[in-house]
Amino acid sequence: MADLEVQNLAKSYDGKTKVLKDISFSVKNGEFVSILGPSGCGKTTTLRIIAGLIPETSGQVLVDNKDITKVPVYKRNFGMVFQSYALFPHLSVFENVAFGLKTRKIAKSEIKEKVAAMLELTGLSDLADKFPAQLSGGQQQRVSLARALIIDPELLLMDEPLSNLDAKLRLKMREEICRLQKKMKMTVLFVTHDQQECFAISDKVLIMKQGHIDQFDTPQTIFHHPRTEYVARFIGYDNFVPVSPNSCQDNYHVKAGETVLTTTEDCLNAKVLTIRPENIVLDLKEATQNTFDGKIINREYLGQSFKYTVESKLGEFKVEEARQKMRSSGDEVTLTLPAKHLHPLSE
Ligand SMILES: Nc1ncnc2c1ncn2[C@@H]1O[C@H](COP(=O)(O)OP(=O)(O)O)[C@@H](O)[C@H]1O
Ligand SMILES: [Mg+2]
Repeated sequence: MADLEVQNLAKSYDGKTKVLKDISFSVKNGEFVSILGPSGCGKTTTLRIIAGLIPETSGQVLVDNKDITKVPVYKRNFGMVFQSYALFPHLSVFENVAFGLKTRKIAKSEIKEKVAAMLELTGLSDLADKFPAQLSGGQQQRVSLARALIIDPELLLMDEPLSNLDAKLRLKMREEICRLQKKMKMTVLFVTHDQQECFAISDKVLIMKQGHIDQFDTPQTIFHHPRTEYVARFIGYDNFVPVSPNSCQDNYHVKAGETVLTTTEDCLNAKVLTIRPENIVLDLKEATQNTFDGKIINREYLGQSFKYTVESKLGEFKVEEARQKMRSSGDEVTLTLPAKHLHPLSE
């Protein structure tokens, strides 16, 4: 497998609106990178340009430092898996998987051997003679994965491959993909709009917003240090407090309106602070900082916990609390925002 580098990629379909604006990122050999973003943000367009299926408007795609931007699709040795399995309906499982080898003019005996090994690896040996219409969604997606992998691709590109599967099967396929990726040391670029899925399986996540990259980091870094409000919202930070940068004399306080908040040093230049709903504490006894009055105005039941909407002088907050105690609309509470859980956002 290989290193992939994308440099300053831009794309316009109509010559006017840019659906990709100056995208740059790299995927190292053996890495699993996901592109995460809502529908229409440009994920598929990015993948299709890398695959060579559509032309870029400007920018370069490099594989192992070689510019392949103008190399036609059939000369790129990439495996592709799509949301719609795109199998050949008139070919058996065996023939579907063998397809990429046949077009490469490989000897029949070698094809037989390789396909058998790949069917074994992907758990399809018993289905070799079936046709796509006789298979379940999960089985079809496995065939499409086997077909992509049989050519020993330099790079595996996957566009929402699990979207058509039910929740249980999604989890199972997700595990299988991870297992295969590690076993075969594959370089993978995986597209999804599902945050949990993406964080569970990726070495790095690229968060895309309207044709540009908002953040490209490990899942852990994104989770603990979201860079923008858009990213923070995507991963479940529900609370945003506008603050005045450098509004206090020392390094550990900032002003939110007239309220002085105690923070950590990295919050000094922030324009907005964010905090997760589960990190706000209600009715903390002996609270010493960042505590103010609030009133419960809504309650949602989440199974293990309740999520409350709490009105306060700093606006509304979402607060998640273990279900031992149930509060009701109208209840008066105090809110505490622990300084160590307040994260700075630059945008
Ligand atoms: N073939 C096309 N012609 C014109 N516009 C397109 C075409 N394909 C996609 N788009 C537009 O480009 C933007 C990005 O689309 P896409 O890459 O498919 O997003 P995603 O995969 O993130 O949902 C969207 O606004 C979409 O309408
Ligand atoms: Mg898409």
